[in-house]
Amino acid sequence: MSATPITERKGLHLDVCLSGAAAFERRTTGFERYDLPYLALPELDLGAIDTSTTFLGKSLAAPILIGAMTGGSSHAGLINRHLAEAAQRLGLGLMLGSQRVMLERPETRSSFAVRALAPDALLIGNLGVAQLLRGYGVAELEAAREAVGADAMALHTNPLQEALQQGGDEGFAGVVERLGEVVPGCSGPVILKEVGHGLSGAVARSVAAVGLAALDVAGAGGTSWAKVEDLVRYGEVRHPDLVEWGIPTATALVEVRAALPAMPLVASGGIRSGLDAAKALALGAQVVAIAQPLLASALESAEAVVAALERYMRELRIAMFVSGAADLRALAEVTPSHDPRA
Ligand SMILES: Cc1cc2nc3c(=O)[nH]c(=O)nc-3n(C[C@H](O)[C@H](O)[C@H](O)COP(=O)(O)O)c2cc1C
Repeated sequence: MSATPITERKGLHLDVCLSGAAAFERRTTGFERYDLPYLALPELDLGAIDTSTTFLGKSLAAPILIGAMTGGSSHAGLINRHLAEAAQRLGLGLMLGSQRVMLERPETRSSFAVRALAPDALLIGNLGVAQLLRGYGVAELEAAREAVGADAMALHTNPLQEALQQGGDEGFAGVVERLGEVVPGCSGPVILKEVGHGLSGAVARSVAAVGLAALDVAGAGGTSWAKVEDLVRYGEVRHPDLVEWGIPTATALVEVRAALPAMPLVASGGIRSGLDAAKALALGAQVVAIAQPLLASALESAEAVVAALERYMRELRIAMFVSGAADLRALAEVTPSHDPRA
């Protein structure tokens, strides 16, 4: 695959994310301020804990999605194949990275072709909302979904990232109205996600009538995409305040859950342990998504991704066991304690 500005930028994104330099430094997810009840006498057997669920009509062995990462760069095909094999083996879901490159450069399509490796997995395609204001519509969403055999499409919104990116999309005016025109025309479910700076309760309310199947709050505290762009563009952080900006994932989740009580929610952005996942599920998420922590394993092998995800799955089961939640319905009933000073 010959490098063009878009495929080259994606390669640089991968390098910066792999280096670990793009993590938020000052801002945290806020999950550290929540605690699940610790039960010294849980009256449950660890082996009987049931983490199974369904999301967007597909069965999952645990409420965990591999976060949207990549496609189009030279390593993307390998990464996506390893992620897909791991999702299939573990019964988890997979969100693909932005497919814009695939629609614009058909020779990159093979890097997204993972359905054969994950025939049963919940597979979610990806495009940017900014593209909906630049000529993309129902036809492009349907084409992207069909090209990869996805069960659903995610639309990412990333104004801070775009504003810092060289040549980024700066026009977002009219975006909610455009979502209202496009989403109802799609034949499959459509999700709206941020990329690590968070959806607020007010933003969630603004898209309440659009017909979205779920929201992924993708909050701050994990990977800062503003920082990724600064590091790719300048080799250093030039906007130290902007790159640390965003709504902490736990705050975003609590706000969006309160704003839209019936909306299925994905919690992502800095989910770094099964205990983080358990707290997110107790705070109202249906599933969590994990991106950057799987990247190094994804370059290595499907087995390495499986091992990384098995840690999350085991930690989640332990968190449920010791907080007295036999299944995800019981976990949703658990009320975490909150210490704003922690
Ligand atoms: C290497 C990499 C590439 C990403 N590419 C995309 C993308 O194409 N589309 C998207 O919606 N999000 C993308 N993201 C954002 C993630 O889906 C996620 O929202 C964000 O990284 C926060 O999660 P984390 O803290 O677990 O990494 C990417 C993340 C990483 C690490």
